[in-house]
Amino acid sequence: MRTLEEARKWEEEKKIPEEKRPVFHLTPRVGWMNDPNGFSRYQGKYHLFYQYYPYNSFWSSMHWGHAVSTDLVHWEYLPCAMAPEDEYDQDGCFSGSSTTLPDGRQLLVYTGVRHIEGGPPGRDFYQTQCLAVGDGLNYEKYAGNPVISTEMIPDGGSLHDFRDPKIWQLDDGSYRLVVANRGSDKNGRILLYESADGFSWTFRKVLLENDGRFGRMWECPDFFRLEGKGVLLVSPQDMLPEGVEYHNGNGTVCFLGTLSEDGLDFHPEHHQAIDYGIDFYAPQTVLSPDGRRIMIGWMQNWDACAIRKPASPWAGQMSIPRELSIRDGRLYQWPVRELDALRAEKREFRDIEIEGEMSLPGISGRVLDMELVIRPGDAEKMYRRFSIRFAQGKDYYTSLRFRPHEFSLKLDRTFSGSRRAIVHQRSCFVDQGAEELRLRIILDRYSAEVFVNGGRQVMTATIYTEQEADGISFCCDGKAKLNLVQYNIRA
Ligand code: FRU
Repeated sequence: MRTLEEARKWEEEKKIPEEKRPVFHLTPRVGWMNDPNGFSRYQGKYHLFYQYYPYNSFWSSMHWGHAVSTDLVHWEYLPCAMAPEDEYDQDGCFSGSSTTLPDGRQLLVYTGVRHIEGGPPGRDFYQTQCLAVGDGLNYEKYAGNPVISTEMIPDGGSLHDFRDPKIWQLDDGSYRLVVANRGSDKNGRILLYESADGFSWTFRKVLLENDGRFGRMWECPDFFRLEGKGVLLVSPQDMLPEGVEYHNGNGTVCFLGTLSEDGLDFHPEHHQAIDYGIDFYAPQTVLSPDGRRIMIGWMQNWDACAIRKPASPWAGQMSIPRELSIRDGRLYQWPVRELDALRAEKREFRDIEIEGEMSLPGISGRVLDMELVIRPGDAEKMYRRFSIRFAQGKDYYTSLRFRPHEFSLKLDRTFSGSRRAIVHQRSCFVDQGAEELRLRIILDRYSAEVFVNGGRQVMTATIYTEQEADGISFCCDGKAKLNLVQYNIRA
Protein backbone atom coordinates (compact mmCIF):
# COMPACT_ATOMS: atom_id res chain seq x y z
CA MET A 1 0.00 0.00 0.00
CA ARG A 2 1.48 3.33 -1.02
CA THR A 3 0.90 6.34 1.19
CA LEU A 4 -0.42 9.78 0.35
CA GLU A 5 3.05 11.14 0.96
CA GLU A 6 4.49 8.79 -1.66
CA ALA A 7 1.84 9.80 -4.18
CA ARG A 8 2.58 13.48 -3.58
CA LYS A 9 6.31 12.95 -3.98
CA TRP A 10 5.78 10.91 -7.14
CA GLU A 11 3.56 13.46 -8.88
CA GLU A 12 5.97 16.28 -7.95
CA GLU A 13 8.81 14.40 -9.64
CA LYS A 14 6.94 13.36 -12.79
CA LYS A 15 6.26 16.72 -14.40
CA ILE A 16 4.58 16.44 -17.79
CA PRO A 17 5.38 19.34 -20.13
CA GLU A 18 2.44 21.64 -20.88
CA GLU A 19 2.72 21.08 -24.64
CA LYS A 20 2.00 17.37 -24.16
CA ARG A 21 -1.39 18.13 -22.63
CA PRO A 22 -4.60 19.73 -23.86
CA VAL A 23 -4.58 23.53 -23.53
CA PHE A 24 -7.77 24.09 -21.52
CA HIS A 25 -9.10 20.64 -20.62
CA LEU A 26 -7.94 19.12 -17.35
CA THR A 27 -5.86 15.92 -17.49
CA PRO A 28 -4.40 14.03 -14.50
CA ARG A 29 -1.29 15.55 -13.02
CA VAL A 30 0.38 12.27 -13.97
CA GLY A 31 -1.01 8.79 -14.72
CA TRP A 32 -4.67 7.87 -14.90
CA MET A 33 -7.86 9.93 -14.42
CA ASN A 34 -11.53 8.95 -14.47
CA ASP A 35 -14.61 10.53 -12.88
CA PRO A 36 -14.78 14.13 -11.70
CA ASN A 37 -15.21 14.21 -7.90
CA GLY A 38 -15.98 16.91 -5.36
CA PHE A 39 -16.71 19.59 -7.98
CA SER A 40 -17.40 22.55 -5.68
CA ARG A 41 -16.72 26.15 -4.70
CA TYR A 42 -14.46 26.62 -1.73
CA GLN A 43 -12.71 29.78 -0.52
CA GLY A 44 -13.39 31.66 -3.73
CA LYS A 45 -12.22 28.94 -6.13
CA TYR A 46 -13.63 26.01 -8.01
CA HIS A 47 -12.23 22.76 -6.67
CA LEU A 48 -12.20 19.69 -8.83
CA PHE A 49 -11.00 16.35 -7.56
CA TYR A 50 -10.79 13.29 -9.75
CA GLN A 51 -10.40 9.53 -9.68
CA TYR A 52 -6.66 9.16 -9.96
CA TYR A 53 -3.90 6.57 -10.17
CA PRO A 54 -0.60 8.43 -10.31
CA TYR A 55 1.81 5.51 -10.78
CA ASN A 56 0.90 4.55 -14.34
CA SER A 57 -1.70 5.52 -16.89
CA PHE A 58 -4.16 2.68 -16.21
CA TRP A 59 -7.03 2.33 -13.74
CA SER A 60 -5.90 0.81 -10.47
CA SER A 61 -6.14 1.55 -6.77
CA MET A 62 -8.02 4.85 -6.70
CA HIS A 63 -6.67 8.06 -5.15
CA TRP A 64 -8.24 11.53 -5.37
CA GLY A 65 -6.31 13.97 -7.56
CA HIS A 66 -6.96 17.67 -6.99
CA ALA A 67 -7.01 20.88 -9.05
CA VAL A 68 -8.40 24.39 -8.57
CA SER A 69 -9.51 27.11 -10.92
CA THR A 70 -10.94 30.60 -10.76
CA ASP A 71 -12.46 30.52 -14.26
CA LEU A 72 -12.99 26.80 -15.13
CA VAL A 73 -10.64 27.01 -18.12
CA HIS A 74 -7.26 27.48 -16.40
CA TRP A 75 -6.49 24.76 -13.85
CA GLU A 76 -3.80 24.63 -11.21
CA TYR A 77 -2.75 21.26 -9.82
CA LEU A 78 -2.75 20.78 -6.08
CA PRO A 79 -1.19 17.81 -4.30
CA CYS A 80 -3.04 14.48 -4.32
CA ALA A 81 -5.85 14.80 -1.75
CA MET A 82 -6.43 11.20 -0.64
CA ALA A 83 -4.80 7.80 -1.00
CA PRO A 84 -6.39 4.43 -0.19
CA GLU A 85 -4.45 3.90 3.03
CA ASP A 86 -7.06 2.91 5.58
CA GLU A 87 -8.70 -0.43 6.22
CA TYR A 88 -12.15 0.76 5.07
CA ASP A 89 -10.80 2.21 1.80
CA GLN A 90 -7.77 -0.02 1.27
CA ASP A 91 -8.96 -0.99 -2.22
CA GLY A 92 -9.85 2.47 -3.40
CA CYS A 93 -11.13 5.93 -2.59
CA PHE A 94 -13.93 5.85 -5.15
CA SER A 95 -16.02 8.72 -6.45
CA GLY A 96 -17.75 11.29 -4.29
CA SER A 97 -18.44 14.94 -3.74
CA SER A 98 -17.78 17.90 -1.49
CA THR A 99 -19.39 20.67 0.55
CA THR A 100 -18.41 23.28 3.13
CA LEU A 101 -19.00 22.83 6.87
CA PRO A 102 -20.35 25.66 9.08
CA ASP A 103 -16.88 26.10 10.62
CA GLY A 104 -15.41 26.74 7.15
CA ARG A 105 -13.71 23.38 6.64
CA GLN A 106 -14.20 21.46 3.41
CA LEU A 107 -15.96 18.12 3.69
CA LEU A 108 -15.25 15.35 1.19
CA VAL A 109 -17.68 12.42 0.95
CA TYR A 110 -16.45 9.38 -0.94
CA THR A 111 -16.83 5.64 -1.30
CA GLY A 112 -14.36 3.45 0.54
CA VAL A 113 -13.77 0.09 -1.11
CA ARG A 114 -12.65 -2.91 0.89
CA HIS A 115 -11.97 -6.40 -0.37
CA ILE A 116 -11.56 -9.02 2.34
CA GLU A 117 -9.28 -11.73 1.02
CA GLY A 118 -10.91 -15.15 1.61
CA GLY A 119 -14.03 -13.60 3.16
CA PRO A 120 -17.38 -15.43 2.89
CA PRO A 121 -18.97 -15.08 -0.58
CA GLY A 122 -21.14 -11.98 -0.77
CA ARG A 123 -19.44 -10.57 2.34
CA ASP A 124 -15.91 -10.30 1.01
CA PHE A 125 -16.27 -6.97 -0.77
CA TYR A 126 -17.75 -3.80 0.67
CA GLN A 127 -18.44 -0.30 -0.50
CA THR A 128 -19.24 2.24 2.23
CA GLN A 129 -19.53 6.01 2.40
CA CYS A 130 -16.69 7.81 4.13
CA LEU A 131 -15.60 11.36 4.99
CA ALA A 132 -12.47 13.47 4.97
CA VAL A 133 -12.20 17.01 6.30
CA GLY A 134 -9.71 19.61 5.19
CA ASP A 135 -8.65 23.16 4.41
CA GLY A 136 -8.65 23.04 0.61
CA LEU A 137 -5.17 21.51 0.47
CA ASN A 138 -4.77 18.82 3.13
CA TYR A 139 -7.46 16.41 4.25
CA GLU A 140 -7.82 14.14 7.21
CA LYS A 141 -10.03 11.11 6.99
CA TYR A 142 -12.73 11.07 9.66
CA ALA A 143 -12.07 8.78 12.62
CA GLY A 144 -15.69 7.58 12.55
CA ASN A 145 -15.51 6.19 8.99
CA PRO A 146 -17.47 4.69 7.40
CA VAL A 147 -20.38 7.03 8.16
CA ILE A 148 -22.82 5.12 5.94
CA SER A 149 -22.08 1.46 6.39
CA THR A 150 -23.54 -1.51 4.53
CA GLU A 151 -26.02 -2.03 7.43
CA MET A 152 -27.68 1.19 6.33
CA ILE A 153 -28.57 -0.16 2.87
CA PRO A 154 -32.31 -0.90 2.71
CA ASP A 155 -34.20 -3.94 1.38
CA GLY A 156 -31.43 -6.39 0.59
CA GLY A 157 -29.48 -4.05 -1.68
CA SER A 158 -25.99 -5.02 -2.79
CA LEU A 159 -23.10 -4.44 -0.36
CA HIS A 160 -20.77 -4.52 -3.31
CA ASP A 161 -22.42 -1.90 -5.53
CA PHE A 162 -23.04 1.03 -3.20
CA ARG A 163 -21.13 4.08 -4.31
CA ASP A 164 -20.60 7.63 -5.53
CA PRO A 165 -22.29 9.88 -2.92
CA LYS A 166 -23.28 13.37 -4.08
CA ILE A 167 -23.84 15.75 -1.15
CA TRP A 168 -25.60 19.13 -0.95
CA GLN A 169 -26.65 21.50 1.79
CA LEU A 170 -30.23 22.63 2.39
CA ASP A 171 -31.28 26.17 3.29
CA ASP A 172 -31.76 25.09 6.93
CA GLY A 173 -28.09 24.07 7.09
CA SER A 174 -28.70 20.31 7.08
CA TYR A 175 -27.30 17.99 4.42
CA ARG A 176 -28.59 15.40 2.01
CA LEU A 177 -26.82 12.99 -0.27
CA VAL A 178 -27.77 10.59 -3.02
CA VAL A 179 -25.80 7.42 -3.59
CA ALA A 180 -26.11 4.65 -6.16
CA ASN A 181 -26.91 1.09 -5.14
CA ARG A 182 -27.80 -2.15 -6.91
CA GLY A 183 -31.17 -3.37 -5.65
CA SER A 184 -32.07 -7.01 -4.99
CA ASP A 185 -33.40 -7.20 -8.59
CA LYS A 186 -29.81 -6.36 -9.74
CA ASN A 187 -30.88 -3.03 -11.19
CA GLY A 188 -29.58 0.34 -10.08
CA ARG A 189 -31.43 2.66 -7.73
CA ILE A 190 -30.71 5.94 -6.04
CA LEU A 191 -30.81 6.09 -2.25
CA LEU A 192 -31.27 9.35 -0.36
CA TYR A 193 -29.75 9.93 3.08
CA GLU A 194 -29.90 12.95 5.37
CA SER A 195 -27.83 14.45 8.14
CA ALA A 196 -28.03 17.45 10.48
CA ASP A 197 -24.25 17.93 10.65
CA GLY A 198 -22.71 16.06 7.68
CA PHE A 199 -21.24 13.37 9.97
CA SER A 200 -24.18 11.40 11.30
CA TRP A 201 -26.43 10.03 8.56
CA THR A 202 -29.81 8.30 8.30
CA PHE A 203 -31.48 6.62 5.35
CA ARG A 204 -34.52 8.59 4.15
CA LYS A 205 -35.87 6.94 0.99
CA VAL A 206 -35.29 5.35 -2.39
CA LEU A 207 -35.39 8.36 -4.70
CA LEU A 208 -35.68 6.46 -7.97
CA GLU A 209 -35.36 2.87 -9.15
CA ASN A 210 -34.21 1.62 -12.50
CA ASP A 211 -36.97 -0.55 -13.90
CA GLY A 212 -34.47 -2.33 -16.14
CA ARG A 213 -34.97 0.10 -18.97
CA PHE A 214 -31.83 2.13 -18.30
CA GLY A 215 -28.99 -0.37 -18.19
CA ARG A 216 -28.29 -2.24 -14.96
CA MET A 217 -26.30 -0.70 -12.11
CA TRP A 218 -26.34 3.09 -11.98
CA GLU A 219 -23.23 5.07 -11.10
CA CYS A 220 -22.39 8.67 -10.15
CA PRO A 221 -25.79 10.28 -9.42
CA ASP A 222 -26.23 14.04 -9.22
CA PHE A 223 -29.53 15.59 -8.15
CA PHE A 224 -30.57 19.24 -8.20
CA ARG A 225 -33.28 21.72 -9.05
CA LEU A 226 -32.99 23.64 -12.31
CA GLU A 227 -35.50 26.19 -13.52
CA GLY A 228 -38.21 24.70 -11.30
CA LYS A 229 -37.64 21.12 -12.46
CA GLY A 230 -35.97 18.23 -10.67
CA VAL A 231 -32.91 16.91 -12.51
CA LEU A 232 -31.28 13.56 -11.85
CA LEU A 233 -28.12 12.65 -13.74
CA VAL A 234 -26.95 9.04 -13.63
CA SER A 235 -24.38 6.97 -15.49
CA PRO A 236 -25.83 3.49 -16.06
CA GLN A 237 -23.72 0.46 -16.85
CA ASP A 238 -24.72 -2.12 -19.49
CA MET A 239 -27.18 -0.02 -21.46
CA LEU A 240 -29.15 -1.26 -24.44
CA PRO A 241 -29.41 1.19 -27.33
CA GLU A 242 -32.81 2.75 -27.99
CA GLY A 243 -33.05 4.50 -31.39
CA VAL A 244 -30.09 6.87 -31.46
CA GLU A 245 -30.06 7.11 -27.66
CA TYR A 246 -27.90 5.14 -25.24
CA HIS A 247 -25.36 3.50 -27.55
CA ASN A 248 -22.36 3.63 -25.30
CA GLY A 249 -22.71 0.57 -23.06
CA ASN A 250 -21.72 2.75 -20.15
CA GLY A 251 -24.02 5.64 -20.88
CA THR A 252 -25.36 8.80 -19.32
CA VAL A 253 -29.00 9.64 -18.65
CA CYS A 254 -30.65 12.87 -17.62
CA PHE A 255 -34.09 12.59 -16.03
CA LEU A 256 -36.15 15.77 -15.87
CA GLY A 257 -39.31 15.81 -13.80
CA THR A 258 -41.40 17.28 -11.05
CA LEU A 259 -39.81 17.71 -7.66
CA SER A 260 -41.88 18.33 -4.53
CA GLU A 261 -41.31 21.46 -2.44
CA ASP A 262 -39.38 19.48 0.20
CA GLY A 263 -37.18 17.98 -2.52
CA LEU A 264 -38.04 14.40 -1.60
CA ASP A 265 -40.52 13.29 -4.27
CA PHE A 266 -39.15 13.13 -7.76
CA HIS A 267 -41.27 12.05 -10.73
CA PRO A 268 -39.39 11.91 -14.04
CA GLU A 269 -41.27 13.14 -17.10
CA HIS A 270 -38.48 13.06 -19.65
CA HIS A 271 -35.20 11.22 -20.22
CA GLN A 272 -32.39 11.71 -22.69
CA ALA A 273 -28.75 10.87 -23.20
CA ILE A 274 -26.60 13.66 -21.81
CA ASP A 275 -24.06 13.33 -24.60
CA TYR A 276 -24.54 11.73 -28.02
CA GLY A 277 -20.85 11.28 -28.80
CA ILE A 278 -18.55 8.53 -27.58
CA ASP A 279 -16.53 9.89 -24.69
CA PHE A 280 -18.56 11.30 -21.84
CA TYR A 281 -19.31 9.68 -18.49
CA ALA A 282 -19.92 10.25 -14.79
CA PRO A 283 -20.77 13.98 -14.98
CA GLN A 284 -21.03 16.08 -11.86
CA THR A 285 -22.31 19.63 -11.33
CA VAL A 286 -21.54 22.71 -9.25
CA LEU A 287 -23.49 25.92 -8.69
CA SER A 288 -21.46 29.00 -9.65
CA PRO A 289 -21.63 32.15 -7.48
CA ASP A 290 -23.83 33.79 -10.16
CA GLY A 291 -26.30 30.90 -10.02
CA ARG A 292 -25.31 28.86 -13.07
CA ARG A 293 -25.53 25.07 -12.84
CA ILE A 294 -22.26 23.89 -14.39
CA MET A 295 -21.55 20.29 -15.37
CA ILE A 296 -18.24 18.59 -16.09
CA GLY A 297 -17.82 14.98 -17.21
CA TRP A 298 -15.05 12.46 -17.69
CA MET A 299 -14.25 12.85 -21.41
CA GLN A 300 -13.76 9.14 -21.92
CA ASN A 301 -15.86 6.01 -21.88
CA TRP A 302 -14.99 2.71 -20.23
CA ASP A 303 -15.91 0.78 -23.40
CA ALA A 304 -13.67 2.89 -25.62
CA CYS A 305 -10.59 3.35 -23.45
CA ALA A 306 -8.48 1.57 -26.06
CA ILE A 307 -8.48 4.83 -28.05
CA ARG A 308 -5.83 6.22 -25.70
CA LYS A 309 -2.10 5.86 -26.33
CA PRO A 310 -0.83 3.25 -23.85
CA ALA A 311 2.62 4.85 -23.67
CA SER A 312 1.30 8.31 -22.77
CA PRO A 313 2.28 9.58 -19.28
CA TRP A 314 -1.34 10.63 -18.75
CA ALA A 315 -4.70 9.11 -19.67
CA GLY A 316 -8.15 10.61 -19.26
CA GLN A 317 -9.45 14.15 -19.67
CA MET A 318 -12.31 16.22 -18.32
CA SER A 319 -14.85 17.76 -20.70
CA ILE A 320 -15.23 21.50 -21.06
CA PRO A 321 -17.45 22.61 -18.16
CA ARG A 322 -20.97 23.19 -19.53
CA GLU A 323 -23.75 25.51 -18.41
CA LEU A 324 -27.06 23.69 -18.10
CA SER A 325 -30.52 24.96 -18.93
CA ILE A 326 -33.92 23.53 -19.83
CA ARG A 327 -35.70 24.37 -23.08
CA ASP A 328 -38.70 22.65 -24.63
CA GLY A 329 -38.56 20.11 -21.81
CA ARG A 330 -35.02 19.04 -22.70
CA LEU A 331 -31.61 19.54 -21.11
CA TYR A 332 -29.45 22.02 -23.03
CA GLN A 333 -25.70 22.44 -22.56
CA TRP A 334 -23.37 25.24 -23.55
CA PRO A 335 -19.65 25.71 -22.92
CA VAL A 336 -19.04 27.94 -19.90
CA ARG A 337 -18.98 31.60 -20.94
CA GLU A 338 -15.51 31.90 -19.34
CA LEU A 339 -14.16 30.17 -22.46
CA ASP A 340 -15.10 33.23 -24.52
CA ALA A 341 -12.31 35.19 -22.82
CA LEU A 342 -9.77 32.81 -24.40
CA ARG A 343 -10.96 33.48 -27.94
CA ALA A 344 -8.31 35.08 -30.15
CA GLU A 345 -7.74 35.80 -33.85
CA LYS A 346 -11.28 35.91 -35.14
CA ARG A 347 -11.89 34.86 -38.72
CA GLU A 348 -15.31 35.19 -40.24
CA PHE A 349 -17.01 34.10 -43.46
CA ARG A 350 -20.60 34.85 -44.46
CA ASP A 351 -22.84 33.24 -47.06
CA ILE A 352 -20.11 31.07 -48.51
CA GLU A 353 -21.50 28.71 -51.10
CA ILE A 354 -20.27 25.17 -50.56
CA GLU A 355 -20.60 22.77 -53.47
CA GLY A 356 -18.21 19.85 -53.73
CA GLU A 357 -15.08 19.97 -51.62
CA MET A 358 -13.35 23.12 -50.40
CA SER A 359 -11.33 24.70 -47.64
CA LEU A 360 -11.38 28.32 -46.51
CA PRO A 361 -8.33 30.56 -46.16
CA GLY A 362 -7.06 30.73 -42.57
CA ILE A 363 -9.51 28.08 -41.31
CA SER A 364 -7.44 25.37 -39.65
CA GLY A 365 -6.10 24.41 -36.23
CA ARG A 366 -6.45 21.97 -33.35
CA VAL A 367 -7.15 24.34 -30.46
CA LEU A 368 -10.13 26.40 -31.45
CA ASP A 369 -13.72 27.42 -31.06
CA MET A 370 -15.75 27.53 -34.25
CA GLU A 371 -19.40 28.43 -34.86
CA LEU A 372 -21.14 27.44 -38.07
CA VAL A 373 -24.58 27.96 -39.55
CA ILE A 374 -25.41 25.71 -42.50
CA ARG A 375 -28.42 26.48 -44.73
CA PRO A 376 -29.63 25.08 -48.03
CA GLY A 377 -27.92 26.83 -50.97
CA ASP A 378 -30.71 26.14 -53.39
CA ALA A 379 -34.27 27.00 -52.39
CA GLU A 380 -35.71 24.38 -54.75
CA LYS A 381 -33.47 21.49 -53.86
CA MET A 382 -32.15 20.44 -50.47
CA TYR A 383 -28.54 19.27 -50.44
CA ARG A 384 -28.07 15.58 -49.67
CA ARG A 385 -25.07 15.70 -47.40
CA PHE A 386 -22.85 18.30 -45.79
CA SER A 387 -19.61 17.31 -44.10
CA ILE A 388 -16.82 18.96 -42.20
CA ARG A 389 -13.47 17.32 -41.79
CA PHE A 390 -11.11 18.46 -39.07
CA ALA A 391 -7.84 17.28 -37.52
CA GLN A 392 -7.10 16.53 -41.15
CA GLY A 393 -3.67 15.62 -42.49
CA LYS A 394 -2.37 13.46 -45.29
CA ASP A 395 -3.67 10.25 -43.72
CA TYR A 396 -6.08 11.37 -41.05
CA TYR A 397 -9.29 13.21 -40.36
CA THR A 398 -12.33 13.21 -38.13
CA SER A 399 -15.64 14.21 -39.65
CA LEU A 400 -19.12 15.50 -38.94
CA ARG A 401 -21.66 14.54 -41.57
CA PHE A 402 -25.18 15.94 -41.77
CA ARG A 403 -27.88 14.26 -43.85
CA PRO A 404 -30.81 16.68 -43.84
CA HIS A 405 -33.29 14.17 -45.26
CA GLU A 406 -32.65 11.87 -42.32
CA PHE A 407 -32.15 14.67 -39.77
CA SER A 408 -29.03 12.80 -38.81
CA LEU A 409 -25.64 14.14 -37.70
CA LYS A 410 -22.77 11.69 -37.49
CA LEU A 411 -19.45 12.15 -35.70
CA ASP A 412 -16.83 9.79 -37.12
CA ARG A 413 -13.25 9.35 -35.93
CA THR A 414 -12.55 6.13 -37.87
CA PHE A 415 -9.65 7.82 -39.66
CA SER A 416 -8.32 9.77 -36.70
CA GLY A 417 -5.25 7.53 -36.40
CA SER A 418 -6.72 4.95 -34.03
CA ARG A 419 -5.40 1.45 -34.68
CA ARG A 420 -8.05 -0.14 -32.49
CA ALA A 421 -11.29 -1.73 -33.72
CA ILE A 422 -13.47 0.06 -31.19
CA VAL A 423 -16.47 2.28 -31.75
CA HIS A 424 -15.55 5.36 -33.75
CA GLN A 425 -18.94 6.67 -34.90
CA ARG A 426 -22.02 8.04 -33.24
CA SER A 427 -25.11 9.72 -34.64
CA CYS A 428 -27.70 11.99 -33.19
CA PHE A 429 -31.12 12.94 -34.43
CA VAL A 430 -31.36 16.66 -35.15
CA ASP A 431 -34.99 16.97 -34.22
CA GLN A 432 -35.39 20.69 -34.88
CA GLY A 433 -35.58 20.39 -38.66
CA ALA A 434 -32.89 20.76 -41.27
CA GLU A 435 -33.44 24.22 -42.72
CA GLU A 436 -30.71 25.59 -40.53
CA LEU A 437 -28.10 23.56 -38.68
CA ARG A 438 -26.06 25.41 -36.08
CA LEU A 439 -22.87 23.89 -34.75
CA ARG A 440 -20.30 25.00 -32.24
CA ILE A 441 -17.17 22.89 -32.44
CA ILE A 442 -14.55 23.03 -29.70
CA LEU A 443 -11.21 21.40 -30.40
CA ASP A 444 -8.37 21.05 -27.90
CA ARG A 445 -5.46 18.91 -29.16
CA TYR A 446 -6.99 15.54 -28.21
CA SER A 447 -10.72 16.12 -28.30
CA ALA A 448 -13.73 17.46 -30.16
CA GLU A 449 -16.94 18.65 -28.49
CA VAL A 450 -19.80 19.53 -30.81
CA PHE A 451 -22.76 21.58 -29.53
CA VAL A 452 -25.71 21.23 -31.88
CA ASN A 453 -28.42 23.86 -32.35
CA GLY A 454 -27.60 25.97 -29.33
CA GLY A 455 -26.78 22.98 -27.14
CA ARG A 456 -29.86 20.82 -27.71
CA GLN A 457 -27.53 17.90 -28.33
CA VAL A 458 -23.82 17.53 -27.63
CA MET A 459 -21.42 15.04 -29.20
CA THR A 460 -18.04 14.48 -27.60
CA ALA A 461 -15.11 12.35 -28.72
CA THR A 462 -11.44 12.11 -27.92
CA ILE A 463 -9.07 12.00 -30.88
CA TYR A 464 -5.40 11.21 -30.53
CA THR A 465 -4.44 12.28 -34.06
CA GLU A 466 -0.93 13.72 -34.45
CA GLN A 467 -1.03 17.48 -33.89
CA GLU A 468 0.39 18.25 -37.36
CA ALA A 469 -2.97 17.13 -38.79
CA ASP A 470 -4.67 20.49 -38.37
CA GLY A 471 -6.59 20.92 -41.62
CA ILE A 472 -10.30 21.73 -41.85
CA SER A 473 -12.35 21.25 -45.01
CA PHE A 474 -15.98 21.25 -46.10
CA CYS A 475 -17.86 19.17 -48.58
CA CYS A 476 -21.41 19.32 -49.86
CA ASP A 477 -23.32 16.91 -52.02
CA GLY A 478 -25.62 19.57 -53.50
CA LYS A 479 -25.44 23.24 -52.55
CA ALA A 480 -25.21 24.72 -49.07
CA LYS A 481 -24.63 28.20 -47.68
CA LEU A 482 -22.23 28.53 -44.79
CA ASN A 483 -21.63 31.20 -42.16
CA LEU A 484 -18.57 30.57 -40.08
CA VAL A 485 -16.71 32.27 -37.25
CA GLN A 486 -13.50 30.74 -35.98
CA TYR A 487 -11.34 31.72 -33.03
CA ASN A 488 -8.11 30.21 -31.86
CA ILE A 489 -8.10 29.50 -28.15
CA ARG A 490 -5.18 30.98 -26.24
CA ALA A 491 -4.80 29.99 -22.61
C1 FRU B 1 -17.56 5.29 -12.65
C2 FRU B 1 -16.92 4.51 -11.52
C3 FRU B 1 -17.60 4.86 -10.20
C4 FRU B 1 -16.54 4.53 -9.20
C5 FRU B 1 -15.28 4.93 -9.93
C6 FRU B 1 -14.08 4.09 -9.62
O1 FRU B 1 -16.72 5.57 -13.70
O2 FRU B 1 -16.99 3.14 -11.79
O3 FRU B 1 -18.81 4.18 -9.98
O4 FRU B 1 -16.71 5.24 -8.01
O5 FRU B 1 -15.57 4.86 -11.30
O6 FRU B 1 -12.93 4.62 -10.15
